[in-house]
Amino acid sequence: MIRENFNVSTVVPPQLRNKQGYQNFQIGQFRFERDEYFAQILYPGNRHIVPIETFLRALARDVAWGFFYGTVSFDAIFGTINRYGTVEMFIGLHNAAYRSAHKEYVETFASKDLRRVFDSMLADWTNQEFDPFAAPGETGTPYGRKHGDNLKAVDRERSAAKRMVGLPGDLKIRAGSDGLEVNRSFADVPQDQPELHPEPGFEDQVRAVNLFAHMSRSDTTWNPSVVSVVQDSLLCATTEEYVLPIIHGNDRVEWLVQLSDEIIWDIEDKITGMPACKLVMKAGDVAALPADIRHRGYAPKRSMVLVWENNDGTLPHRHAVGELTPYPVVF
Ligand code: PHB
Ligand code: FE
Repeated sequence: MIRENFNVSTVVPPQLRNKQGYQNFQIGQFRFERDEYFAQILYPGNRHIVPIETFLRALARDVAWGFFYGTVSFDAIFGTINRYGTVEMFIGLHNAAYRSAHKEYVETFASKDLRRVFDSMLADWTNQEFDPFAAPGETGTPYGRKHGDNLKAVDRERSAAKRMVGLPGDLKIRAGSDGLEVNRSFADVPQDQPELHPEPGFEDQVRAVNLFAHMSRSDTTWNPSVVSVVQDSLLCATTEEYVLPIIHGNDRVEWLVQLSDEIIWDIEDKITGMPACKLVMKAGDVAALPADIRHRGYAPKRSMVLVWENNDGTLPHRHAVGELTPYPVVF
């Protein structure tokens, strides 16, 4: 998912920049500073430090997905919770040690206000050779003093079909037309297109695409894109390599379909972070992730996943009050 209306300026007077050339950002009582290696998050009473690569990869997802469903944790301490219209930004809220010492800190912001700060921070703090959506082996590093920017990478545009890709007047996705090459890890994925035999008179209403071929040319990792919408059912295709840059805490059930290769998931209790299980998904496996867990995936080799999200806005509340079990099926 790539956000729309990304519109920030990185033209900032030098006096507003720190010694390393980066802009500082402030919202509420949170202050964000970047240096050559770290993002420093200052909040009343303390500071939390996150390595800059970890921070920028997580930040890029949080803004691209509009704060996503439920909780997006950048690490075991810092993250955001989507309240759909507002966002809670927290330190230690979902960390058992912080909670028992009463060291958690939370502030609530209008989503659009936090989004504006995060957009600007991502644009200003991403140097020219770093792409936070790329696999580590396919991008330069984010380190050092401020040098250039990479708006092309952090501002990828969403391509939205009106009815279906390939129909007359609609988007085209075909090898060669999008300028993307088959990724080295997917060299064995056939690129042939489906055969179509529409009934006479329906030639302009029926299309088919080779989704595997399309995904094999994706230049992003861990960035689900909606490929079908049927009422609240969103099927989101994505290619994964290395580590999911956020830890996702569910506020509803979410399904994963492993389309190729293998991903290992760490599953933890959503609130305390206590390890719950290891989930190994091989090609063809399907898993329902319960509404009361958080999870992070590890993909040793680039792989393809279909994430199935339920966009019904009543679900978080119905889970929170216990009307729904955290599981889709009780056996
Ligand atoms: C997830 O939170 O389940 C998730 C997020 C991004 C992905 C895949 C899965 O690319
Ligand atoms: Fe998830």
